[in-house]
This record gives sequence, C-alpha cells and structure tokens, in this order.
Amino acid sequence: MKETVAIIGGGGRESALVHAYAKSPHVNKIIAIPGNDFMQQTTDKIVQTFPTISTTDIPSIMQICDENHAGLVDIAQDAAVEAGVSNVLQRKGISVIGPTKQAGQLEWDKAWSRNFMQNNAISHPSFQICQTPKQGYEYLAQQPEQGWVIKANGLAEGKGVIITENSAQALRAIEEMKRFGKAGEQFLIEQLLVGEEFSTYAISDGNSWKLIGSAQDHKRVNNFDIGLNTGGMGCSTPPLILTPELIKQVQTQIIAKTFEGMQKIGRPYTGILYLGGMVIHQQTTDQPFVIEFNARWGDPEAQIIVPSLINDFFELGLAVAKGELHTIKLSTDQKSRVVVAGTSRGYPEDYSQVRGKEIFGLKEAQQMEGVTVYGAGVKRSEDRYYADGGRLFYIVGEGITVIEAREKAYEAMSLISIEGNNLHYRTDIGWRDVERLRHK
Ligand code: AMP
Ligand code: GLY
Repeated sequence: MKETVAIIGGGGRESALVHAYAKSPHVNKIIAIPGNDFMQQTTDKIVQTFPTISTTDIPSIMQICDENHAGLVDIAQDAAVEAGVSNVLQRKGISVIGPTKQAGQLEWDKAWSRNFMQNNAISHPSFQICQTPKQGYEYLAQQPEQGWVIKANGLAEGKGVIITENSAQALRAIEEMKRFGKAGEQFLIEQLLVGEEFSTYAISDGNSWKLIGSAQDHKRVNNFDIGLNTGGMGCSTPPLILTPELIKQVQTQIIAKTFEGMQKIGRPYTGILYLGGMVIHQQTTDQPFVIEFNARWGDPEAQIIVPSLINDFFELGLAVAKGELHTIKLSTDQKSRVVVAGTSRGYPEDYSQVRGKEIFGLKEAQQMEGVTVYGAGVKRSEDRYYADGGRLFYIVGEGITVIEAREKAYEAMSLISIEGNNLHYRTDIGWRDVERLRHK
C-alpha cells in the first residue's frame, strides 16, 4: 500500500523532510501543516499544504491526519512538540516521529534542561535560575566580573538570548527579559563560554539511538558574524572542528548520557535530538559543552544533513515510531554541503516592506546540477513566487569539499534576486572550514 506522510511545520527544514520522504517508494502523498508554496517544486508526488492551520492546532491536525489516513506523522517544529502533538497522536495509535511534550522539555524549558544536564554530569556552563530580576541582581553581585548570557526560559523563536561582556551589561539584559512575555518570566544567567560552536544530530526510538551527523551554523545576520542573532543564516557539513576524538566525546559524554538519562526518568526520547554544542579549549585539550538541546532538527541544518542520509526516510521514521531503530543501519553519502539562507532585507527586524515582492530565479537555481532549493516564506501565484516572511528560501550546494559545496551554493544564489533589491544573504557561510582547508 502507498502511504501518506504528514509533516508538521512549514519552513525550510520541513521542505527538506518533504523532499526526503517523497523519495521513498512507500510514499505517494505528503501533507504539510502548514507547509509552504515551494514544497511541491522538489517532487512529482502530491504535496498538500494547509496554510491556515497552525502547528499547535491539535484538533485540526488530528482531523487532517485522520481524513488522509496518514501512516506516519513527523513533528518537525518546536512549538508543536511543546503543545504535545506527539502525545495526542500516539494515544490515537498513529505512528509518530517526534518527542512527547515531556521529552521535549529538554528544549522548551531551559531551566529544566540545565538541571537535567547537571543531574546527569553532562558538561554545561555554570548557571543560575531566576524567578525575579532581584534574584538576578543578587546573584551577579556575588560573582566575579566576567561575560554572562541572559536567557528567557521558554521558547522565544531563537531571540530570547542576550550575550553580554560584563556584569553591567548583564544587569541591563535582565531588564530586557520582560520583553519576552511569558517565555521571559523565568530566566537564566549563564557563564559566557568562549569557543567554537557546532551542532550534532542523533535519532532515538526511546530504547536505542544513532548518531546522524553534525553541522556548523552561522547565526548572526551579517558577514563577519556581526549583527543580531537569527534562526541561522547558513551552515556547512561536516564541521571540521569535530575531530574523530571530539565526535567520540560528544557521543559518549553528551548524547548517550542524554538518552539514557531521559529513559531513567521515565521520559524516553523518540525523534531527533539536536545538540547545540561548543568546543572549549582547556589547557591542552578540547572539550565539548552543551549550549542547548533542541527537540527537533535545526533549520537550516536539516537542509544539509537530511539529504546526506541515503536511508529510506519512511522506513527510518516508521522504525523510530515502532521502537525498531536497531533494525536500521544508517548510511550517509559523505558529501560536503553548504546551505545559504535567503532572507528579506531588514530581517530579523522590520522586513514588512518586502512582503509581496517578487522573487526571481528560484526555479533557474533549482535546475543547477548539485544544487537544491528549499522554500520557506514564499507564496506562489500563477507560477511566480513572492516574499511572505523573513526567512524566504535556502540554497543547498553539494561537493566533495566545503569549498566546492559553497561555490555551488553561491553560484546558484547569484541567479536569484528580489524585486527592489530586497534580497539579503551572507556571503561567508562556511568560512571557518574554508580557511581550515586552505591552511592544510
Ligand atoms: P540558545 O538559544 O540557548 O542556543 O542560544 C543562542 C545562541 O547564544 C547560541 O547559539 C550561542 O551562540 C549563544 N549562547 C547561548 N548560551 C551561551 C553560553 N552559555 N555561552 C556562550 N554562548 C552562548
Ligand atoms: N539553526 C538553529 C536552530 O535551528 O535552532
């Protein structure tokens, strides 16, 4: 029987998942809730989107999955995890990949997550959980002068983190937590770690788990890692900072302890675990620390790691849902990939003037050998595409090395523009690894 897969989410990450599931011979239809207008462009199979349904609207999601006899539901987006979409679907006997609300607390409750790391001896920065600004001021008064990171406790679309260089700045950042509403009512003060960031992805069915791959994101909006933090302006894989020795440490000292720890407290983790890590150089050794966990793929990391998996995605998803991940041998194509995010000019602040402007060249870029284009905030009308958000689309280039992959991505990007000169993207994605290769 041919199956229907439902994907909860609508950005570039979910577009990469649509592309991957659509390659499976078991699948003949994909449903994306809400999805986006470019998803159909990556496959001949039917992709049905539901633009007006939110990722947390459980009754509507249930109804759509029911009516379409979804054989597998992939919960790809953080708010859906927090809302407990997985719990409800599982209770109805539907096969689902994506953690329960309780397992997803690793992401949606930073205080809970830091306590979990502490209880399981997983390397993390020192931290203090604060319920009121006064508690924060008192804590800082007792600490030595250094850099601090002030974080809203709840989900804040990647914006709830303020990095400071000293205590005076940290005191001001505490004031700003009010801006994040409920997410900022409780906040954390963390020691500022200094090192190089990476992210690693693993998959678990609650019993066994497997490492998938790693990437390096570029979160700041402008070249030279300058400007505001964003959801990610581009990434490369594999990140060369992760030596085989460090990968082993990440596996044994972080990922294994996390899945085992979750099982021990009765919250078995099913789905993708995203470790946001940092390699810290201490005396003569490098050590990985946890910056954060996410209960989902990264975006845009998924756009480069998902395509590297050779496995049949439907078989993999079903094995996770049924607790049979041990029957699957993961294999990857070993290519380098670079993804560059195309955003509206003004993102992540005010980009309202770009909404409705035409995006040129997406299909031309898509036709290039070694290039894939994934949509996000795009609207289609009569076969033309228009900007409909901050993060608009992603260009993935592949090659033997990061240098080749990034050349491909930027060659494709050069074909794209937005009416009124409104396209913004970084031109230095992958710079650390390009330099590393050139210095070899
Ligand atoms: P988060 O949402 O917790 O991943 O934080 C967003 C970004 O802030 C991370 O990707 C890091 O670049 C930075 N960050 C968060 N916590 C720390 C920390 N304790 N030390 C250094 N940088 C941090
Ligand atoms: N690219 C960062 C994230 O997905 O959170």
